[in-house]
Amino acid sequence: QRLQHDPAARLPLAYMRLRRAIRNVIENGEVQVGHALPSERDLARALTLSRVTVRKAIGGLVEDGLLTQRHGAGTFVSERIVKPLSRMTSFTEDLRARGLNPRSEFFEKAIGEVNPEEAMAMNLSPGTQVVRLHRLRYAGDEPLAIERSAVPLALLPDPGLVEDSLYEALDKLGHRPNRALQRLRAVVLGPAQLRLLRLPTGSAGLNIERRSFLEDGRIVEFTNSWYRGDIYDFVAELQSD
Ligand code: GLP
Repeated sequence: QRLQHDPAARLPLAYMRLRRAIRNVIENGEVQVGHALPSERDLARALTLSRVTVRKAIGGLVEDGLLTQRHGAGTFVSERIVKPLSRMTSFTEDLRARGLNPRSEFFEKAIGEVNPEEAMAMNLSPGTQVVRLHRLRYAGDEPLAIERSAVPLALLPDPGLVEDSLYEALDKLGHRPNRALQRLRAVVLGPAQLRLLRLPTGSAGLNIERRSFLEDGRIVEFTNSWYRGDIYDFVAELQSD
């Protein structure tokens, strides 16, 4: 029913329309993470579409990481968060795109002087002032990542401007980064991190270091994130030269 009244109905091909419509339903949280989709046959019948169309739409969403197929069991809304490495999205955007509710618990949201690591990473001289954020990032009640960010005060004049999302605040100031360099490393999480992320001893994490730039080359952020290894997949599309 819901799928029939979607604005995506304007897309040219039926499978594209259906793919967009299912995506919207997931993004709006109408089908929840881990839940099953009706079978291909039932969907086709309910929507008076061919099974080929339904299969193609579902196949596309599996590729996008939004759906997972389990042999013999059916199609489910992915429990893992699959994040394309090539897109410059924020934590908040990634979660909303999955129908999840992003929120942050702040341990620090204050102005300070750059520490040596930040100064080197952002090419700032010692003594430069930055807004520093240290937060635990949740999807609803579930902690997913720990994040430490530094943003030059010149680009973010008041830490209070960050309500929950850093990129939203930067966007409002016209300072949303459009390019970033990112390094991804496997790590064994330390005791404090394990406690915050509610994980058992020995759990793996992914450390992501991101330096983001404005169009004019200025560095906007230096962020270190520790994502839960048991939930996050980072995927990239590769092309030969
Ligand atoms: C991701 C990136 C960080 C970035 C953050 C912004 O987690 N790895 O470098 O700072 O998104 O997210 P938000 O706008 O939700 O604060």
